[in-house]
Amino acid sequence: MKIDEILNKSKMDRDDLIVILSAEDPSDIEIIRSQAENLLIKECGHSVYFRGLIEFSNFCKCDCLYCGIRKSNADVNRYQLDKSEVVSSAVWCAEHGYGSIVLQSGERNDKQFIEDVVELVKTIKAESRSDVMPEGLGITLCVGEQTSDTYKKFFDAGAHRYLLRIETSSEKLFSEIHPSSQSFANRVRCLEDLKKIGFQLGTGVMIGLPGQTVENLADDILFFRSVDADMIGMGPFIAHSKTPMSKTDQNKNEQDRIFNLSLRMIAATRLLLKDVNIAATTALQALKADGRERGLRFGANVIMPQLTPTNVRKDYLLYEGKPCLDEGADQCKNCLERRIESIGRKVAYYKWGDSVHYRKNGKLE
Ligand code: 5AD
Repeated sequence: MKIDEILNKSKMDRDDLIVILSAEDPSDIEIIRSQAENLLIKECGHSVYFRGLIEFSNFCKCDCLYCGIRKSNADVNRYQLDKSEVVSSAVWCAEHGYGSIVLQSGERNDKQFIEDVVELVKTIKAESRSDVMPEGLGITLCVGEQTSDTYKKFFDAGAHRYLLRIETSSEKLFSEIHPSSQSFANRVRCLEDLKKIGFQLGTGVMIGLPGQTVENLADDILFFRSVDADMIGMGPFIAHSKTPMSKTDQNKNEQDRIFNLSLRMIAATRLLLKDVNIAATTALQALKADGRERGLRFGANVIMPQLTPTNVRKDYLLYEGKPCLDEGADQCKNCLERRIESIGRKVAYYKWGDSVHYRKNGKLE
């Protein structure tokens, strides 16, 4: 079947996703890209939403085999930002019209950590209210696997979105990239709990993992649908030298392959899920200078500008080659605005930018 016939089907299936993900012909890829971009604009509009990303701590109890801040990496200088630093970065976002922030950290489950996060969320909610945003900033949390009770505490404190990537929907691959103390089943349990509690649910995968096939990636997209995800964040896997997966052979050709596959993965996800928010992640930019804009052109509509204070940013390297390590918040904002306008889209300021999918399900307004 030709690519336009697949794209014109009213319901795409797994085989169709595999064809899209495997496309190599430049004119086929351009057809996929433009359909995904058009569908995004039809379903969600031209707006690109900013989520100011604050990586508030890199202490982590996990030992994920791919991650640069895994607990066994003794070379990492561990930090935890003071509450006042996090709050002032958040207030900067509110004052500059970013509707939402993402609070991300390494994973911890101790009482102190949970209390700190609850306090942070409450304080930021209170301090970011204004006439233009009477509800304050939208807050997304990305602090890993927690109990249902903890998630409820975070939600009651005022966070309304949660990001927890499944990393891969293949149980076999999941077990190859995580220590045995981490289970696929528990991660799925977390996603289900988050949904039940009422969070807007974000998940995603890494693209280009050793041994990962296009069939796996097609299944990942079907997995996003099965957990009723509202938001998707995906990006290329980039080997970090201080991890057990450092030996992954990633020469220039392999990097190009993974980058292009990531773009097709964004497009395929847009084409199947239609009205979800999809992030053009920083990892795309780590491989290509214009990686995030290209992600937007393949159907993404969210960008996460860096707000982590520059003095600790280099200590939050999940992968190597992370861009914008020295750029201040103002610089990031101006640079991104220019990049977004250059592709004919517009940043939506002072808006939470909740996913249309979530609103349609009757959970908002
Ligand atoms: N390459 C790409 N992405 C990574 N992440 C962690 N380590 C890497 C890496 N080496 C991603 C994971 C995690 C998110 C916060 O960062 O998908 O969920």
